[in-house]
Amino acid sequence: MVMTLNKNQTYLDKDKSFVNPVLDRYFHIVTERAAGSYLYDMNGDAYLDFSTGIAVNNVGHCHPKVVEAVQKQVATLMHTSVVTHHKPYIDLCEKLSTITPKGLESIFLSNSGAEAVEGAIKMARYVTGRPGIINFKGAFHGRTFMATALTNSKLYYRERYEPLPGPIYTLPYPYVFRSNTPNDPEACVAEVLEQFNVLFNQFISPEQVASIIVEPVLGEGGYVVPPSSFLPKLKEIANRHGILLIADEVQSGFGRTGKLFAVEHSQTVPDIMLMAKAIGGGMPISAFATRREISEQWKPARHGSTYGGNPVSCAAALATIGVIQEEKLVDRSATLGKKILDRLTTFAKSNPHVSDVRGLGLMIGVEFSDKNGKPSKEIAHAVADKCFENKLLVLTCGSYGQVIRLIPPLNMSDEEANKGIDILEKAIASVKP
Ligand SMILES: Cc1ncc(COP(=O)(O)O)c(C=O)c1O
Repeated sequence: MVMTLNKNQTYLDKDKSFVNPVLDRYFHIVTERAAGSYLYDMNGDAYLDFSTGIAVNNVGHCHPKVVEAVQKQVATLMHTSVVTHHKPYIDLCEKLSTITPKGLESIFLSNSGAEAVEGAIKMARYVTGRPGIINFKGAFHGRTFMATALTNSKLYYRERYEPLPGPIYTLPYPYVFRSNTPNDPEACVAEVLEQFNVLFNQFISPEQVASIIVEPVLGEGGYVVPPSSFLPKLKEIANRHGILLIADEVQSGFGRTGKLFAVEHSQTVPDIMLMAKAIGGGMPISAFATRREISEQWKPARHGSTYGGNPVSCAAALATIGVIQEEKLVDRSATLGKKILDRLTTFAKSNPHVSDVRGLGLMIGVEFSDKNGKPSKEIAHAVADKCFENKLLVLTCGSYGQVIRLIPPLNMSDEEANKGIDILEKAIASVKP
């Protein structure tokens, strides 16, 4: 008898012994390498990746141009911190200032989405001299303390970490499908906006609010696309009261929604925009952009970071942005996303447990409900498991875990897209409520 060694299992056993068990993983395989739209585990099995390391590998895994830029930079300059200026930092800030919405030309670089959130909130408080922050239900902004305080997409991100920083005031997000007015998006927005009046009348004066932080498309909270009137109306409220509007584009940025940034769908220019995940093509880096008149009120050395804007990550980001532009991946995301959305919308008609299909570009959510119309984590997770059995990686999201989110590489081929959606549809059809 020939025994085949399961290399995944050997490493999973070691993982159990040495890795802090708080670090959960969606799939219990050990990835050894990745290329394009595929991950390969230690046994050599290939998995079609519709999860992209949670919206990071927008240009696919190990894109040759990103790899080349990183290799070159590693051999040239790896680190200076704030000891000196360095060229990749300055080049990346210049590049970002040309691609971010108009006026957001003053950039700060850090290492992760949560760090960008922290820096932006610190800046907003410093500049306005106000303490309050408004966020939304279903939000996910990261795992550091302020980011955790701003996160409520699931209880387990917050519980037992109190006291969390504040004051934070949480308003409903216009989640039209689960609202009181599922057939009237504008009524849903009006209901949310009415909550600002209640807030300012009963809870906190707007003069005490530094910022409103919002995801232009709700990510962890369920891939919820708000009506396009929502962000412009938020900006109006923010402007009226001297509040800084922060758009968290950590998950929705860099072509994911069929625009370079999701705020472009409603022509909204926030006061501060957060970027992370896909910006580095797989290397850790984040950024926030604001107007110079705002950043100039933040005195030098009031914020900083040892690794933020590391030369290697900056080189990766410059190469990644180059690939997005050269390969026209924003247009690709819009056209391929629409095809997939249309196909799944048609499919949903004969599969009633698919209660909603929504999305922009290649940021697509498929929501599941049980027979009583309640959000169904069980179905969503069973579908994800079935997809995994068939070597397609899809993640869930939503406050109840009721949504499958599709976040494939923007440059995957039509064949890869069709193969993935075939597997997904078969999985959905096989899981009946
Ligand atoms: C919208 C949003 N903001 C912030 C974060 C936190 O980013 P990071 O995990 O890089 O700290 C995430 C991560 O999923 C996110 O989706």
